[in-house]
Amino acid sequence: MKLLVAIISPKKLEQVKEALWEAGIRGVTVSEASGYGYQKVQVDSVKSSDYRVQYQPRVRLEMALPDAEVEKAVDLVLDTARTGRIGDGKIFVLPLEDAVRVRTGERGESAL
Ligand SMILES: Nc1ncnc2c1ncn2[C@@H]1O[C@H](COP(=O)(O)OP(=O)(O)OP(=O)(O)O)[C@@H](O)[C@H]1O
Ligand SMILES: [Mg+2]
Repeated sequence: MKLLVAIISPKKLEQVKEALWEAGIRGVTVSEASGYGYQKVQVDSVKSSDYRVQYQPRVRLEMALPDAEVEKAVDLVLDTARTGRIGDGKIFVLPLEDAVRVRTGERGESAL
């Protein structure tokens, strides 16, 4: 299993959620986030000492997936969230040790 974390623009959230649902991917956690990527500094003034880190509003999607579904989910986020402009977001894929469905006690992939 893998945990897929996708940090994307809030403008793309509905499209991505819809595409995930249509692809049969159930179980997503969505949180509001803010952060910065490669272009972190916005110069607010001609004085070089007066700059501010500009945090951009983002949403963070988390999906626990069987290994076999990871590439499909990554492609789907790419297809729906990409504009080709800077700030389109980032996807991280993390190994996932275990999952537990609280209601039944099921473990591993059957808990997803
Ligand atoms: N290395 C990172 N670690 C953790 N979060 C990150 C990292 N890079 C980007 N993020 C998060 O993803 C969001 C979107 O990043 P962004 O798309 O701007 O990445 P980038 O590397 O600057 O690529 P681009 O050049 O396309 O803008 C950031 O606002 C931040 O929340
Ligand atoms: Mg960036």
